[in-house]
Amino acid sequence: MAAPLLLLAPLRGVTQLEFRTCLARHFPGFDLAYSPFIPTMAGPRFKMSALRDVIPEPNAAAIPVVPQAIGKSPADFATLVSALKDLGYNRCDLNAGCPWPMIVKRGRGSGLLKSPDHLFAMLDAACAVMPDGISLKARLGVEDATLLPALMERLNQYPLSTLTIHARTARQMYEGKPDLEKFGLCLANAKMPVIYNGDINTPEDAAAIVARFPDVSGLMIGRGAVRDPTLAMRIKGKFAGDRRAALADFVRDYSEVCRARLCGPGHFLGRMKEFWSYFKDSFENGEKLWRQIRISRTYSEYDAVLSGL
Ligand SMILES: Cc1cc2nc3c(=O)[nH]c(=O)nc-3n(C[C@H](O)[C@H](O)[C@H](O)COP(=O)(O)O)c2cc1C
Repeated sequence: MAAPLLLLAPLRGVTQLEFRTCLARHFPGFDLAYSPFIPTMAGPRFKMSALRDVIPEPNAAAIPVVPQAIGKSPADFATLVSALKDLGYNRCDLNAGCPWPMIVKRGRGSGLLKSPDHLFAMLDAACAVMPDGISLKARLGVEDATLLPALMERLNQYPLSTLTIHARTARQMYEGKPDLEKFGLCLANAKMPVIYNGDINTPEDAAAIVARFPDVSGLMIGRGAVRDPTLAMRIKGKFAGDRRAALADFVRDYSEVCRARLCGPGHFLGRMKEFWSYFKDSFENGEKLWRQIRISRTYSEYDAVLSGL
């Protein structure tokens, strides 16, 4: 049996191009990444500036990426898929998992699971533009874990390239245990390749999922890979050397890349703070570093913390 693919999960505000580039450079363990969601736009044309994160040329040095869309209009989704096709992409993922109440109320993200006809109209529109290239990332449901299992038969009628299941409900947000039983039910009924997602934080977590679900095609990892950027390499048994020194090199490089690409200290520090809220767990004295970073207001205050690494 082939080892399942390792995929970097989309984390808006964290796993953007700069992170995917530095991860590929320092710890090349992931086979594929999904971009943080790109909202669809009304109208027949898509604004190229909204595709900044997935422009092919800078992405060539990063983990290969599948752009992800969020929206609810079939026509607007098809327009975005066409724009991605024009950029050379042959894959696009649809977000049916975002749990934020404002998004769900508007019928987007995991809200799509509550109106299946809408979801299938979106898949129809996108598959017409990019046959065989559309995938779905979904939760098990909104209030409880019943919606996705009930949709499996209809989903099987689509040529989905993959179905990624974050094995939680939207109500759970990012807390509580993934429901492995309901995940297994969906996997058993799926005709398309299925990717598992949820709380893989160690090589042992990854091994336990593969042992319980040998038919899984991939493991998608989000917060665990930001807390420990060596994780994908460790899962593959490819990481050797001084972990602390390697992580310090990584964060110095990542900070430089973000400083060069993001506009001004506000954007830069916002990105760094979101990242460090997870990455602090990589270091024994991480809480102390995090407290200092959280109150940094300037480049030099941030640099002073890094110099203490
Ligand atoms: C800050 C943050 C941003 C996220 N952004 C996205 C997103 O843009 N698209 C998406 O499908 N999921 C998004 N997610 C969900 C993750 O991709 C993933 O499904 C979830 O974190 C569970 O995986 P994990 O336990 O490995 O982190 C986000 C999660 C977090 C915490």
